[in-house]
Amino acid sequence: MIKKGIILAGGSGTRLHPTTLATSKQLLPVFDKPMIYYSLSTLLLAGIRQILIISTPADLPQYRRLFHDGSHLGITISYAEQPTPDGLAQAFLIGETWIAGEACALVLGDNFIHGDHLSTLLSAAASRPEGATVFAYQVRDAERYGVVSFNADGKAIRIIEKPVRPESAWAVTGLYFYDARVTELAKTIKPSARGELEITDLNQLYLVEGTLHVEKLGRGTAWLDAGTPDSLLQAATFVQTIQTRQGNLVGCPEEVAYRMGFIDAAMLRENAKAIGKTELGRILTEIADGLHP
Ligand code: DAU
Repeated sequence: MIKKGIILAGGSGTRLHPTTLATSKQLLPVFDKPMIYYSLSTLLLAGIRQILIISTPADLPQYRRLFHDGSHLGITISYAEQPTPDGLAQAFLIGETWIAGEACALVLGDNFIHGDHLSTLLSAAASRPEGATVFAYQVRDAERYGVVSFNADGKAIRIIEKPVRPESAWAVTGLYFYDARVTELAKTIKPSARGELEITDLNQLYLVEGTLHVEKLGRGTAWLDAGTPDSLLQAATFVQTIQTRQGNLVGCPEEVAYRMGFIDAAMLRENAKAIGKTELGRILTEIADGLHP
């Protein structure tokens, strides 16, 4: 069972300038909560309770202010700096001491996954003892992502980062589960032409040795990233639509921590109180009162 997970929340958010000139992209609101809440919720839903948040030296203090040590969520949150954005796979080098040779997941702090049966998929990925698991999602603009191609039997045969002419429409999402060899493998990666330690190169290592599981996310699942003004607004509208229509919360770590049994109803009520008289706080109190079974 994978017990550790890293949230990568660095970078300079250039596509959201000037909004991100003075703040971290992953702290911007997606409707009623900070963007990083959604990726944190994903890790919690996978049963992961030891979290490392990696961000820039300038932004890291803000994340500490937001989450402290994580005990209010029944989890532990640690923090580490990434001085410059040298690539996603660098997370495993920065986190080496914290990972301590164990299996580890990684989620990008600007990624958002929501859908039916997600918790089953996530716990299956977290329970896999060997190899790696990534998730693939059909998009219209695959050239913006890591793209995975499949053979006629549906077996993944190649992953290419931002291909000019994508061989498929299947983008690799920013959620990755790796076995205990991840740090050693990450150390063997060389910077790409754009000077980054590419997560795609790490995934390709697992693919070549035949231990990469690629889970396709179907039409009932939404995967969004929120790196541009348009995609940020789309993500916010999505959350608003679902929450308003159903009364269920999307990407709320307090709720997930409660439903996963990491905190009890009394702690959930405390968390709700801390948010004050917001709609979010009201719904969390209702959940603690058993009104949203
Ligand atoms: O969103 C999924 C995609 O994420 C994958 O399909 C790609 O294979 C993967 O390379 C990545 O592509 P992006 O173009 O989205 O990567 P980007 O450089 O924008 O970084 C993603 C997030 O991670 C972004 O919010 C900034 C943050 N970041 C990025 C780098 C390179 C860091 O915190 N540190 C970094 O060193």
